[in-house]
Amino acid sequence: MGILTGKTALITGAARGIGKAIAMRFAQEGANIAFTDLVIDEEHGGKETERELAALGVQVKGYAGNAADFENTAALVSQIKEDFGSIDILVNNAGITKDGLMLRMTEAQWDAVINVNLKSAFNFIHACVPVMMRQRQGSIINMASVVGVHGNAGQANYAASKAGMIALAKSVGQEMGPKGIRANAIAPGFIDTAMTQTLPEKIRKEWIDKIPLRRGGTVEDIASCALFLASDLSSYISGQVIQVDGGMNM
Ligand code: NAI
Repeated sequence: MGILTGKTALITGAARGIGKAIAMRFAQEGANIAFTDLVIDEEHGGKETERELAALGVQVKGYAGNAADFENTAALVSQIKEDFGSIDILVNNAGITKDGLMLRMTEAQWDAVINVNLKSAFNFIHACVPVMMRQRQGSIINMASVVGVHGNAGQANYAASKAGMIALAKSVGQEMGPKGIRANAIAPGFIDTAMTQTLPEKIRKEWIDKIPLRRGGTVEDIASCALFLASDLSSYISGQVIQVDGGMNM
């Protein structure tokens, strides 16, 4: 018996990285897992993730879809509701970066990041909230970033999208609290994933030197925080943003 036994969690962008780690952690605690990604195949990891989750003995299915697409998301969520019966936990994790200094940033860079990182969360919350309202309970977790709190030169689009994720969680928390639905945000700092492994060694070192705990975070560090926010361990917590960053910002 895990702390999420009997619950269904929907996690976006979970074929790999932080989303996958969250899915694995939730499944270890007994949650059934519906996850999405752009494609679910062998090449991009989705099929392997599906197998690893199924090996934990819970109900699992990966769904292909662009989280930034409103109509597609509505159809996908209604399919998930049919396949799993309930949706108790929603983790809006899908995200991309398209960095550039303001003067050089193109409209396409801006639009892509806002649509994939922020509009996607609106799409999924909009589709899931009616289901959660009928259940009179639900936990929504938006994956933000420390740069959504503090800003970051060269990431105006990304930082704005992540600040939006925080305000979105707070607004939904206020609207939906009376219906038993909580909404919170996680703001990871420097986490070792595909997104950060491409950075030059010098930049990585500069980041690590700013972190009191003197290491990058692991995907499991984020998954532990997500587990807390998803479960009844945080039953009286809503509208909060938890920075999981090794103490980088105090
Ligand atoms: P990742 O790139 O390893 O994984 C992101 C996943 O989202 C990929 O599987 C990708 O295919 C999927 N995805 C991208 N666009 C999508 C779309 N339109 N629809 C559906 N799925 C889509 O990234 P990582 O590092 O695991 O990041 C996960 C989340 O955590 C993101 O929201 C990211 O912004 C956030 N984050 C990551 C940090 C880090 O240091 N890695 C720090 C702070 C926040």
